[in-house]
Amino acid sequence: MKIMSVVGARPQFVKLAPIAEAIAAAGHEHIIVHTGQHYDPMLSDVFFRDLGIPAPDAHLGVGSGTHGVQTGSILAQMDEVLERFSPDCVLVYGDTNSTLAAAVSAVKLHFPVAHLEAGLRSFNREMPEEHNRVLTDHAADLCLAPTEVAMAHLAQEGLAERAVLVGDVMTDVLYQVRDRVLASGGANPLGGEFQPGEFYVATIHRAENTNDPERLSEVVSALAQADKPVVLLAHPRVRAKADEHGISLEAGALTTRDPLAYPELIAAVLASSGVITDSGGLQKEAFLLRVPCTTVRHETEWVETVALGWNVLANTPEEITAAITRPTPGPTDATPYGTGHAAGAAVAAISARIA
Ligand code: UD1
Repeated sequence: MKIMSVVGARPQFVKLAPIAEAIAAAGHEHIIVHTGQHYDPMLSDVFFRDLGIPAPDAHLGVGSGTHGVQTGSILAQMDEVLERFSPDCVLVYGDTNSTLAAAVSAVKLHFPVAHLEAGLRSFNREMPEEHNRVLTDHAADLCLAPTEVAMAHLAQEGLAERAVLVGDVMTDVLYQVRDRVLASGGANPLGGEFQPGEFYVATIHRAENTNDPERLSEVVSALAQADKPVVLLAHPRVRAKADEHGISLEAGALTTRDPLAYPELIAAVLASSGVITDSGGLQKEAFLLRVPCTTVRHETEWVETVALGWNVLANTPEEITAAITRPTPGPTDATPYGTGHAAGAAVAAISARIA
């Protein structure tokens, strides 16, 4: 069968890697469409290079814009792409405007849609990701859920019959890359300036932490007060917002670097004493690497990381300080995200349910 993946943002390229491998292993044809939502080389090209992902078959070059402009630009181009490749299934990767636009285009032209990361919910209707994932789940023919909790959300919304639990595909690639990093000695890519266990890795990019200058200042000053150096791997959005509002990202304990390629990010997290983030993927990666995580949000979709003690939600400067200095959580061998074989299960579910 012919499966079309539509991706556009950094975490989707990570998930595309094991899916591309699993599609090839199953002998299916794979068409890759890159919407161009992320276009900086460090947010896009390096992932294709380092994770051995085949080059996209189509690139829509949509770039940045308001939600309507970005989503609409993808919608406007997808009809032609779908008709040109005529896939048996369109696979979308969750959360982003690229996911929603591709799902809507495909259902309108009657191409079956499968949604990876289906059923995740923050229940925060102010987040663009929440609108995108709810609408995409309801448009999709097949909801590929990463966790039992996600399966329960789908059932509550009347989508149980379309839902299959496959596990989390990011776990597949994380384990592969972790093993490669450890086999090569796991040198800290941030350099000798940051001794192992003596610094935090941070990423902040969500609209709710970056758009409002007061909120961004509050987060920056909390990071500046940390007890160890905080290396902020700055997404272009946080740099742009900080520049716009005259907020310095070099203050006290806080220092800023460019985003890292995936293997370097994993090596940096392994060398760190903790992660401070508002990213969804990084919370889970920290848990899987057993590095304590502090999440600068009011809620998380990855509730298992909190329940197991490896992730703490913290928002005020006081909460952030308390969370990053908390004792290391107790060990766990729980595998709420699967054992690293989710991509094969996802492709098998697509074959069984859609072909
Ligand atoms: C998007 C997703 C978010 C995901 C994140 C991963 C949506 C609504 N949001 O957020 O769910 O967690 O990707 O990184 O789809 N920019 C650049 N270069 C780029 C990309 C973005 O400079 O290559 C800047 C632009 O100023 C742009 C801003 O970042 O306006 C925001 O980019 P956008 O794609 O809208 O959302 P993200 O914050 O990246």
